[in-house]
Amino acid sequence: MDNDRVLIVGGGVIGLSIGWKLARAGKGVVVFDRDRAGGAASWASAGMLSPLAEVRFEEEPLLRLGLKSLAMYPDFVAELEADTGQAVGYRKDGVLLVGVSQDDLADLEFRYRFQKELGLEVAWLNGAEARAREPHLGGQVSAAVWCPGDHQVDNRLLVAALATGLEKAGGTLKEGASVDELVMEGNRVRGVRVGEEVYEGEMVVLSAGCWSGRLPGLPDEIRPPVRPVKGQIIRLQMTDAVRPHTIVWYNRWASSVSVYLAPKDGGHLVVGATSEEMGFDTELTAGGMFELLRAAWEVLPGVYDLPIVETLAGLRPGSRDDAPILGTTAIDGLIMATGHYRKGILLTPMTAHYISELILTGEVSEVIRPFGLERFL
Ligand code: GLY
Repeated sequence: MDNDRVLIVGGGVIGLSIGWKLARAGKGVVVFDRDRAGGAASWASAGMLSPLAEVRFEEEPLLRLGLKSLAMYPDFVAELEADTGQAVGYRKDGVLLVGVSQDDLADLEFRYRFQKELGLEVAWLNGAEARAREPHLGGQVSAAVWCPGDHQVDNRLLVAALATGLEKAGGTLKEGASVDELVMEGNRVRGVRVGEEVYEGEMVVLSAGCWSGRLPGLPDEIRPPVRPVKGQIIRLQMTDAVRPHTIVWYNRWASSVSVYLAPKDGGHLVVGATSEEMGFDTELTAGGMFELLRAAWEVLPGVYDLPIVETLAGLRPGSRDDAPILGTTAIDGLIMATGHYRKGILLTPMTAHYISELILTGEVSEVIRPFGLERFL
Protein backbone atom coordinates (compact mmCIF):
# COMPACT_ATOMS: atom_id res chain seq x y z
CA MET A 1 0.00 0.00 0.00
CA ASP A 2 1.31 3.40 -1.07
CA ASN A 3 0.84 5.32 2.20
CA ASP A 4 3.06 8.29 1.43
CA ARG A 5 1.05 9.47 -1.55
CA VAL A 6 -1.06 12.62 -1.73
CA LEU A 7 -4.80 12.32 -2.34
CA ILE A 8 -6.46 15.28 -4.02
CA VAL A 9 -10.21 15.69 -3.68
CA GLY A 10 -11.43 17.64 -6.72
CA GLY A 11 -10.01 17.58 -10.24
CA GLY A 12 -10.61 21.13 -11.41
CA VAL A 13 -7.66 23.26 -12.51
CA ILE A 14 -6.60 23.70 -8.88
CA GLY A 15 -6.50 19.99 -7.99
CA LEU A 16 -5.03 18.97 -11.35
CA SER A 17 -2.28 21.58 -11.26
CA ILE A 18 -1.23 20.70 -7.71
CA GLY A 19 -1.25 17.03 -8.75
CA TRP A 20 0.83 17.74 -11.84
CA LYS A 21 3.45 19.70 -9.85
CA LEU A 22 3.69 16.99 -7.19
CA ALA A 23 3.89 14.17 -9.72
CA ARG A 24 6.68 15.91 -11.62
CA ALA A 25 8.54 16.23 -8.30
CA GLY A 26 8.31 12.45 -7.96
CA LYS A 27 5.48 12.27 -5.43
CA GLY A 28 2.72 9.65 -5.65
CA VAL A 29 -0.57 11.43 -6.39
CA VAL A 30 -4.17 10.42 -6.96
CA VAL A 31 -6.68 13.07 -8.07
CA PHE A 32 -10.37 12.21 -7.59
CA ASP A 33 -13.14 13.92 -9.47
CA ARG A 34 -16.81 13.16 -8.85
CA ASP A 35 -17.51 13.57 -12.57
CA ARG A 36 -15.23 14.65 -15.43
CA ALA A 37 -11.98 16.37 -14.43
CA GLY A 38 -12.24 20.11 -15.03
CA GLY A 39 -15.89 19.72 -16.00
CA ALA A 40 -17.34 22.16 -13.44
CA ALA A 41 -16.23 25.76 -12.79
CA SER A 42 -12.98 25.26 -14.76
CA TRP A 43 -15.01 24.37 -17.85
CA ALA A 44 -17.57 27.15 -17.47
CA SER A 45 -14.92 29.84 -16.98
CA ALA A 46 -13.82 32.32 -19.65
CA GLY A 47 -10.12 31.83 -18.85
CA MET A 48 -9.50 35.48 -18.09
CA LEU A 49 -6.28 36.42 -16.33
CA SER A 50 -7.41 39.91 -15.52
CA PRO A 51 -6.36 41.24 -12.11
CA LEU A 52 -6.17 44.81 -13.48
CA ALA A 53 -9.68 44.91 -14.91
CA GLU A 54 -11.20 43.06 -11.95
CA VAL A 55 -9.63 45.08 -9.15
CA ARG A 56 -12.06 45.86 -6.34
CA PHE A 57 -11.73 48.55 -3.75
CA GLU A 58 -11.48 46.34 -0.69
CA GLU A 59 -9.21 43.68 -2.16
CA GLU A 60 -5.63 44.89 -2.44
CA PRO A 61 -4.02 41.70 -0.99
CA LEU A 62 -6.02 39.66 -3.50
CA LEU A 63 -4.88 41.95 -6.30
CA ARG A 64 -1.23 41.39 -5.29
CA LEU A 65 -1.79 37.63 -5.22
CA GLY A 66 -3.39 37.79 -8.67
CA LEU A 67 -0.52 39.85 -10.08
CA LYS A 68 1.96 37.34 -8.66
CA SER A 69 0.12 34.46 -10.30
CA LEU A 70 -0.16 36.35 -13.58
CA ALA A 71 3.61 36.86 -13.54
CA MET A 72 4.05 33.10 -13.06
CA TYR A 73 1.88 32.27 -16.09
CA PRO A 74 4.48 32.38 -18.90
CA ASP A 75 6.78 29.85 -17.19
CA PHE A 76 3.86 27.74 -16.01
CA VAL A 77 2.49 27.52 -19.56
CA ALA A 78 5.91 26.89 -21.10
CA GLU A 79 6.53 24.03 -18.66
CA LEU A 80 3.09 22.51 -19.17
CA GLU A 81 3.21 22.78 -22.95
CA ALA A 82 6.71 21.27 -23.01
CA ASP A 83 5.64 18.39 -20.72
CA THR A 84 2.51 17.56 -22.70
CA GLY A 85 2.96 18.87 -26.25
CA GLN A 86 -0.51 20.48 -25.83
CA ALA A 87 -1.09 24.20 -26.37
CA VAL A 88 -3.26 26.06 -23.84
CA GLY A 89 -4.16 29.18 -25.86
CA TYR A 90 -2.27 31.67 -23.69
CA ARG A 91 -2.81 35.18 -25.10
CA LYS A 92 -1.39 38.46 -23.88
CA ASP A 93 -3.88 40.71 -25.57
CA GLY A 94 -5.29 42.86 -22.72
CA VAL A 95 -8.72 43.91 -21.52
CA LEU A 96 -10.73 46.93 -22.61
CA LEU A 97 -13.17 48.06 -19.88
CA VAL A 98 -15.87 50.06 -21.62
CA GLY A 99 -18.71 52.35 -20.59
CA VAL A 100 -21.78 53.77 -22.31
CA SER A 101 -23.96 55.88 -19.97
CA GLN A 102 -23.01 58.75 -17.65
CA ASP A 103 -23.29 56.32 -14.72
CA ASP A 104 -20.98 53.83 -16.41
CA LEU A 105 -18.44 56.57 -17.03
CA ALA A 106 -18.53 57.85 -13.47
CA ASP A 107 -17.96 54.29 -12.25
CA LEU A 108 -15.22 53.69 -14.81
CA GLU A 109 -13.45 56.90 -13.84
CA PHE A 110 -13.62 56.05 -10.14
CA ARG A 111 -12.09 52.62 -10.84
CA TYR A 112 -9.48 54.14 -13.14
CA ARG A 113 -8.32 56.55 -10.40
CA PHE A 114 -8.06 53.64 -7.97
CA GLN A 115 -6.07 51.57 -10.51
CA LYS A 116 -3.68 54.52 -10.98
CA GLU A 117 -3.31 54.99 -7.20
CA LEU A 118 -2.31 51.33 -6.98
CA GLY A 119 0.37 51.95 -9.60
CA LEU A 120 -1.28 49.77 -12.24
CA GLU A 121 -0.50 50.42 -15.88
CA VAL A 122 -3.83 51.40 -17.36
CA ALA A 123 -4.85 54.11 -19.82
CA TRP A 124 -8.00 56.20 -20.21
CA LEU A 125 -9.42 56.26 -23.77
CA ASN A 126 -12.25 58.31 -25.19
CA GLY A 127 -14.83 56.61 -27.41
CA ALA A 128 -12.95 57.25 -30.66
CA GLU A 129 -9.67 56.00 -29.16
CA ALA A 130 -11.43 52.88 -27.87
CA ARG A 131 -12.87 52.19 -31.36
CA ALA A 132 -9.45 52.71 -32.91
CA ARG A 133 -8.18 49.90 -30.66
CA GLU A 134 -11.24 47.70 -31.13
CA PRO A 135 -13.06 48.63 -34.36
CA HIS A 136 -16.09 46.41 -33.69
CA LEU A 137 -17.14 48.48 -30.66
CA GLY A 138 -20.47 50.23 -31.10
CA GLY A 139 -20.92 53.99 -31.42
CA GLN A 140 -22.51 54.13 -27.96
CA VAL A 141 -19.24 53.31 -26.22
CA SER A 142 -18.17 56.68 -24.89
CA ALA A 143 -14.99 55.86 -22.94
CA ALA A 144 -12.80 52.95 -21.90
CA VAL A 145 -9.95 51.94 -19.66
CA TRP A 146 -7.26 49.96 -21.43
CA CYS A 147 -5.64 47.27 -19.27
CA PRO A 148 -2.77 45.96 -21.44
CA GLY A 149 -1.27 43.76 -18.72
CA ASP A 150 -4.30 41.46 -18.47
CA HIS A 151 -4.07 38.16 -20.35
CA GLN A 152 -6.15 35.08 -21.05
CA VAL A 153 -5.80 31.36 -21.52
CA ASP A 154 -8.13 28.78 -23.03
CA ASN A 155 -9.48 27.24 -19.83
CA ARG A 156 -10.64 24.06 -21.58
CA LEU A 157 -7.27 23.47 -23.22
CA LEU A 158 -5.68 24.16 -19.84
CA VAL A 159 -7.80 21.45 -18.22
CA ALA A 160 -6.85 18.97 -20.94
CA ALA A 161 -3.13 19.75 -20.69
CA LEU A 162 -3.10 19.52 -16.90
CA ALA A 163 -4.81 16.13 -16.99
CA THR A 164 -2.25 14.91 -19.54
CA GLY A 165 0.61 16.45 -17.56
CA LEU A 166 -0.53 14.77 -14.35
CA GLU A 167 -0.72 11.32 -15.92
CA LYS A 168 2.47 11.68 -17.97
CA ALA A 169 4.35 12.57 -14.80
CA GLY A 170 3.08 9.40 -13.13
CA GLY A 171 0.04 10.70 -11.25
CA THR A 172 -3.33 8.96 -11.32
CA LEU A 173 -6.60 10.60 -12.29
CA LYS A 174 -9.81 8.95 -11.15
CA GLU A 175 -12.88 10.40 -12.84
CA GLY A 176 -16.43 9.51 -11.84
CA ALA A 177 -14.98 8.89 -8.38
CA SER A 178 -16.96 10.80 -5.80
CA VAL A 179 -15.15 10.96 -2.46
CA ASP A 180 -17.73 9.85 0.08
CA GLU A 181 -15.73 10.47 3.23
CA LEU A 182 -12.54 11.87 4.63
CA VAL A 183 -11.08 9.05 6.71
CA MET A 184 -9.33 10.15 9.89
CA GLU A 185 -7.27 8.46 12.57
CA GLY A 186 -7.29 10.61 15.70
CA ASN A 187 -6.30 14.09 14.60
CA ARG A 188 -4.69 13.11 11.32
CA VAL A 189 -5.92 12.09 7.92
CA ARG A 190 -5.64 8.45 6.94
CA GLY A 191 -7.16 8.78 3.49
CA VAL A 192 -10.45 8.99 1.66
CA ARG A 193 -13.29 6.58 1.00
CA VAL A 194 -14.79 6.23 -2.47
CA GLY A 195 -17.74 3.85 -2.33
CA GLU A 196 -16.50 0.77 -0.51
CA GLU A 197 -12.83 1.44 -1.19
CA VAL A 198 -10.52 3.31 1.19
CA TYR A 199 -7.48 4.98 -0.37
CA GLU A 200 -4.76 5.61 2.16
CA GLY A 201 -2.45 8.57 1.86
CA GLU A 202 -0.05 10.77 3.78
CA MET A 203 -1.91 13.94 2.91
CA VAL A 204 -5.28 14.98 1.55
CA VAL A 205 -5.78 18.19 -0.42
CA LEU A 206 -9.29 19.57 -0.45
CA SER A 207 -9.80 21.34 -3.79
CA ALA A 208 -13.41 20.50 -4.51
CA GLY A 209 -14.55 24.03 -5.42
CA CYS A 210 -17.99 24.96 -4.13
CA TRP A 211 -18.49 21.39 -2.83
CA SER A 212 -15.46 21.67 -0.50
CA GLY A 213 -17.50 22.44 2.61
CA ARG A 214 -19.70 19.38 2.15
CA LEU A 215 -17.16 16.58 2.40
CA PRO A 216 -18.46 13.99 4.88
CA GLY A 217 -16.02 13.24 7.67
CA LEU A 218 -14.64 16.77 7.70
CA PRO A 219 -14.81 18.09 11.28
CA ASP A 220 -17.34 20.96 11.46
CA GLU A 221 -14.85 23.42 12.92
CA ILE A 222 -12.70 23.28 9.80
CA ARG A 223 -15.39 23.18 7.14
CA PRO A 224 -14.28 25.85 4.65
CA PRO A 225 -16.91 28.58 4.27
CA VAL A 226 -17.45 28.26 0.52
CA ARG A 227 -20.71 28.63 -1.35
CA PRO A 228 -21.73 28.31 -4.99
CA VAL A 229 -22.14 31.54 -6.96
CA LYS A 230 -23.88 30.79 -10.22
CA GLY A 231 -22.65 32.23 -13.50
CA GLN A 232 -24.56 31.82 -16.76
CA ILE A 233 -22.47 31.96 -19.92
CA ILE A 234 -23.05 31.96 -23.67
CA ARG A 235 -20.50 30.88 -26.28
CA LEU A 236 -20.94 32.47 -29.71
CA GLN A 237 -19.15 31.63 -32.95
CA MET A 238 -17.17 34.65 -34.17
CA THR A 239 -17.32 35.70 -37.81
CA ASP A 240 -15.34 38.38 -39.66
CA ALA A 241 -18.17 40.78 -38.79
CA VAL A 242 -17.26 40.51 -35.10
CA ARG A 243 -13.84 39.33 -34.05
CA PRO A 244 -12.52 41.45 -31.18
CA HIS A 245 -8.76 41.38 -30.64
CA THR A 246 -9.02 41.84 -26.90
CA ILE A 247 -11.40 41.00 -24.09
CA VAL A 248 -14.11 43.65 -23.91
CA TRP A 249 -15.66 44.13 -20.49
CA TYR A 250 -18.72 46.23 -19.74
CA ASN A 251 -20.07 46.92 -16.25
CA ARG A 252 -23.56 48.06 -17.22
CA TRP A 253 -24.59 50.33 -14.41
CA ALA A 254 -28.31 50.51 -15.38
CA SER A 255 -28.89 46.79 -14.84
CA SER A 256 -25.98 45.97 -12.51
CA VAL A 257 -24.74 43.42 -14.99
CA SER A 258 -21.10 42.87 -15.72
CA VAL A 259 -20.52 41.29 -19.11
CA TYR A 260 -17.21 40.26 -20.63
CA LEU A 261 -16.61 39.08 -24.17
CA ALA A 262 -13.51 36.93 -24.49
CA PRO A 263 -12.36 35.89 -28.00
CA LYS A 264 -10.71 32.45 -28.11
CA ASP A 265 -8.23 31.15 -30.67
CA GLY A 266 -10.62 28.39 -31.75
CA GLY A 267 -13.23 30.98 -32.84
CA HIS A 268 -15.56 31.09 -29.83
CA LEU A 269 -16.54 34.37 -28.21
CA VAL A 270 -17.25 33.63 -24.55
CA VAL A 271 -19.92 35.97 -23.19
CA GLY A 272 -20.23 35.84 -19.42
CA ALA A 273 -21.39 35.93 -16.78
CA THR A 274 -24.25 36.44 -14.41
CA SER A 275 -23.50 36.36 -10.70
CA GLU A 276 -26.31 34.75 -8.75
CA GLU A 277 -26.77 33.43 -5.23
CA MET A 278 -28.96 30.45 -6.14
CA GLY A 279 -27.36 27.61 -4.21
CA PHE A 280 -26.44 24.62 -6.35
CA ASP A 281 -28.96 25.48 -9.08
CA THR A 282 -27.50 25.47 -12.61
CA GLU A 283 -30.64 26.21 -14.63
CA LEU A 284 -30.32 28.68 -17.45
CA THR A 285 -32.87 31.48 -17.30
CA ALA A 286 -34.38 33.75 -19.94
CA GLY A 287 -33.52 36.75 -17.77
CA GLY A 288 -29.88 35.73 -17.39
CA MET A 289 -29.42 35.18 -21.12
CA PHE A 290 -31.27 38.42 -21.89
CA GLU A 291 -29.12 40.53 -19.55
CA LEU A 292 -25.91 39.13 -21.01
CA LEU A 293 -26.97 39.51 -24.63
CA ARG A 294 -28.41 42.99 -24.20
CA ALA A 295 -25.23 44.25 -22.59
CA ALA A 296 -23.04 42.44 -25.13
CA TRP A 297 -25.06 43.87 -28.05
CA GLU A 298 -24.86 47.42 -26.66
CA VAL A 299 -21.08 47.44 -26.83
CA LEU A 300 -20.44 45.03 -29.74
CA PRO A 301 -23.60 45.34 -31.89
CA GLY A 302 -22.38 42.72 -34.37
CA VAL A 303 -22.98 39.93 -31.82
CA TYR A 304 -26.62 40.13 -32.92
CA ASP A 305 -25.82 37.97 -35.95
CA LEU A 306 -23.47 35.47 -34.36
CA PRO A 307 -24.52 31.82 -34.04
CA ILE A 308 -24.96 30.53 -30.49
CA VAL A 309 -22.66 27.55 -29.94
CA GLU A 310 -23.31 26.76 -26.31
CA THR A 311 -25.07 28.00 -23.18
CA LEU A 312 -24.14 26.80 -19.72
CA ALA A 313 -24.05 27.74 -16.07
CA GLY A 314 -21.16 27.14 -13.68
CA LEU A 315 -20.77 27.47 -9.93
CA ARG A 316 -17.94 29.63 -8.64
CA PRO A 317 -16.59 28.64 -5.23
CA GLY A 318 -17.05 31.88 -3.29
CA SER A 319 -15.53 32.16 0.17
CA ARG A 320 -16.77 34.55 2.84
CA ASP A 321 -14.31 37.25 1.78
CA ASP A 322 -14.05 36.19 -1.90
CA ALA A 323 -10.38 35.23 -1.46
CA PRO A 324 -9.05 31.66 -1.70
CA ILE A 325 -8.47 29.40 1.30
CA LEU A 326 -4.94 28.03 1.14
CA GLY A 327 -2.72 26.04 3.46
CA THR A 328 -2.71 23.74 6.45
CA THR A 329 -5.56 23.02 8.86
CA ALA A 330 -5.90 21.87 12.46
CA ILE A 331 -6.04 18.30 11.10
CA ASP A 332 -2.58 16.85 10.43
CA GLY A 333 -2.13 16.12 6.77
CA LEU A 334 -5.20 18.02 5.58
CA ILE A 335 -4.46 20.88 3.20
CA MET A 336 -6.97 23.34 1.74
CA ALA A 337 -6.83 24.81 -1.76
CA THR A 338 -10.32 26.07 -2.40
CA GLY A 339 -12.59 29.13 -2.52
CA HIS A 340 -10.96 30.74 -5.56
CA TYR A 341 -14.31 32.35 -6.49
CA ARG A 342 -13.92 34.41 -9.71
CA LYS A 343 -10.17 33.88 -10.01
CA GLY A 344 -9.55 30.16 -10.17
CA ILE A 345 -7.83 30.15 -13.55
CA LEU A 346 -5.77 33.25 -12.71
CA LEU A 347 -4.63 31.84 -9.36
CA THR A 348 -3.77 28.36 -10.68
CA PRO A 349 0.03 28.75 -11.11
CA MET A 350 0.42 30.43 -7.73
CA THR A 351 -1.74 27.85 -5.95
CA ALA A 352 -0.01 24.91 -7.64
CA HIS A 353 3.42 26.31 -6.76
CA TYR A 354 2.86 27.21 -3.10
CA ILE A 355 0.63 24.27 -2.18
CA SER A 356 2.99 21.74 -3.74
CA GLU A 357 5.90 23.49 -2.01
CA LEU A 358 4.02 23.21 1.29
CA ILE A 359 3.42 19.50 0.74
CA LEU A 360 7.00 18.78 -0.32
CA THR A 361 8.81 20.90 2.29
CA GLY A 362 6.33 21.57 5.10
CA GLU A 363 6.90 25.32 4.64
CA VAL A 364 3.93 27.69 4.44
CA SER A 365 5.14 30.55 2.25
CA GLU A 366 4.54 34.14 3.38
CA VAL A 367 2.71 34.58 0.08
CA ILE A 368 -0.15 32.29 1.06
CA ARG A 369 -0.06 32.69 4.85
CA PRO A 370 -2.66 35.52 4.90
CA PHE A 371 -5.06 33.28 2.98
CA GLY A 372 -5.27 30.45 5.53
CA LEU A 373 -8.49 29.02 6.90
CA GLU A 374 -7.61 30.51 10.35
CA ARG A 375 -8.84 33.91 9.21
CA PHE A 376 -12.42 32.63 9.47
CA LEU A 377 -12.08 30.82 12.80
N1 GLY B 1 -13.79 35.66 -13.58
C1 GLY B 1 -15.04 35.93 -14.19
C2 GLY B 1 -16.20 35.31 -13.57
O1 GLY B 1 -16.12 34.66 -12.54
O2 GLY B 1 -17.27 35.49 -14.09
